[in-house]
Amino acid sequence: MNIIGFNGSPRKSGNTAWAIGKILEGAIAGGADARLFQAGETEIKPCRGCLACVGGDGCVMKDGMQEIYSALKTADALILGAPIYMGQMCGQAKVFTDRLFAQIKPRFSPTFKEENAGKSLILVWTQGNPDSEKFKAYLDYTKMMFEMLEFKVREAVVVAGTRTAQASEQDGLEKKLMEVGTGLAAAP
Ligand SMILES: Cc1cc2nc3c(=O)[nH]c(=O)nc-3n(C[C@H](O)[C@H](O)[C@H](O)COP(=O)(O)O)c2cc1C
Repeated sequence: MNIIGFNGSPRKSGNTAWAIGKILEGAIAGGADARLFQAGETEIKPCRGCLACVGGDGCVMKDGMQEIYSALKTADALILGAPIYMGQMCGQAKVFTDRLFAQIKPRFSPTFKEENAGKSLILVWTQGNPDSEKFKAYLDYTKMMFEMLEFKVREAVVVAGTRTAQASEQDGLEKKLMEVGTGLAAAP
């Protein structure tokens, strides 16, 4: 199992990075290969809507996303994590998501190119608000959107309450995240 993680938070050592890191740790313990990309250290420009990717050979924007496209090609699973900003995924994670357009079949069918279809996806959301259901409508919609792109969404983890307790301080969370990782590594 080859897994890539993408931390959409600009904070390389924040709550989201920690949560994704624990899932990756669990996956590695379960025998997977894993690699983490960080929005905070990768230049990913917003899609400019040129549509050169439609019928072309991928995205013409030569930035940090190119390395991620290559990694995604051979990955079995993606772990996408983002903090909630103003009730939605943070802008960096949205820019990353928009840039996945270049991996989609022409005319937004909406079908991922064959080499990407059926990849596993684990979503990791962190939020200051202690109510883990607060953004449920948005997170359910976002899960459905990734399923429409033919990702097999295996889990959507919500880490709530980081305003008062950092993710790393929350009881039982480390174990839960590690188990998500080992479960992913063992998945068919
Ligand atoms: C600009 C900004 C907007 C935020 N908006 C929300 C929000 O709408 N709801 C919420 O619960 N937390 C909000 N937060 C808190 C973050 O989601 C929370 O601190 C998160 O765990 C940060 O993740 P990180 O440590 O990986 O950067 C916001 C934080 C920032 C910086």
